[in-house]
Amino acid sequence: MSESNLKKKDLAWGSLGFDYIKTDYRFTATNRDGKWSDGELITDEIMRIHEGSPALHYAQQCFEGLKAQTAKDGSVLLFRPELNAERLHMTAERLMMPPVPRELFLKGVEETVRANYAWIPPYGSGASLYIRPLLIGVGENMGLRPAKEYDFRVIVSPVGPYYKGGGISLISLAVTEFDRAAPLGTGKFKAGANYAGGLLSTQTAKDMGANEALYLDSAQRKYLDEAGSANILLAMTGNRFVTPRSNAILPSVTRRSIMTLAKDELKMTIEERPVAIREEMAEIEEMAACGTAAVISPVGKIWIDGQWHLFYGNGEKVGPVMKRLYDSLTQIQKGEKADPFGWTTKVNIG
Ligand SMILES: Cc1ncc(COP(=O)(O)O)c(C=O)c1O
Repeated sequence: MSESNLKKKDLAWGSLGFDYIKTDYRFTATNRDGKWSDGELITDEIMRIHEGSPALHYAQQCFEGLKAQTAKDGSVLLFRPELNAERLHMTAERLMMPPVPRELFLKGVEETVRANYAWIPPYGSGASLYIRPLLIGVGENMGLRPAKEYDFRVIVSPVGPYYKGGGISLISLAVTEFDRAAPLGTGKFKAGANYAGGLLSTQTAKDMGANEALYLDSAQRKYLDEAGSANILLAMTGNRFVTPRSNAILPSVTRRSIMTLAKDELKMTIEERPVAIREEMAEIEEMAACGTAAVISPVGKIWIDGQWHLFYGNGEKVGPVMKRLYDSLTQIQKGEKADPFGWTTKVNIG
């Protein structure tokens, strides 16, 4: 890699928000006549697609989200990228799109990260490089049927914390009048269409003074599903670590990792099951939202049935369980502590 590609950009790393920043390179591969191209790095951020593209009309589109972090020793680490490859594969099949082969997905991610080395926030800045792989159905079409051609792209952007406040800061969630996903719908897949439907719900939650929407199951509105862009974690009485089981939520990579940490490091009893929120409210000691972007965001309070319910420290303090899990996860992600599970992958910077 050339000297200029290695020199870090002059950004205010510590005050980045969660926004798009144009970086130098993106990866693109195409599927034509049923075959994937090898893919290549390009510099143009504008995609030119046919006006009939099913991605535009029928939301035949899906994506992923993961991060690269700079470790203490300067190496660049990805966190469990193979699980994102797997999830994009599942989503593609659900939307009748040709899955991106795992090798192509990982190559696209690694090449884009490597080419944009100068944009990867330095160790200790609190920021990271967000990686957004994207698969869209393109080409001439009008009727409701799958596209014949597909574009796969990987873009990256340096980002700070998802919720304002930074680090491990408290958020609040609100149950609105909107549902996110039907029980047998596309809720467990990372389809863009799920998110368009959630925009109004998020805005409604914000209007109520919360950071994000909290969804209940849409069949009965009784069980916890997830937040707008994160799964839910609960520390409950009796040293129990509980996460909602639902067919309509995204299988969060972060949540699956945290469940392992809660079991192995905190010796908690792990339960993944439907959570009847109203009935179990009193047993919840700590709540948090988790995801690649949200990491672990402790939830101080939730709005439901016309009132706020407060959790740990009257909704004003970060509880000890979520704090320990946050520290442990972020230390593994930044290579600050041993990674006994082999979750991190070093990107060869060349
Ligand atoms: C709806 C939803 N749930 C959960 C998550 C968390 O998943 P992950 O931990 O894989 O990022 C995300 C996104 O990241 C999401 O969009």
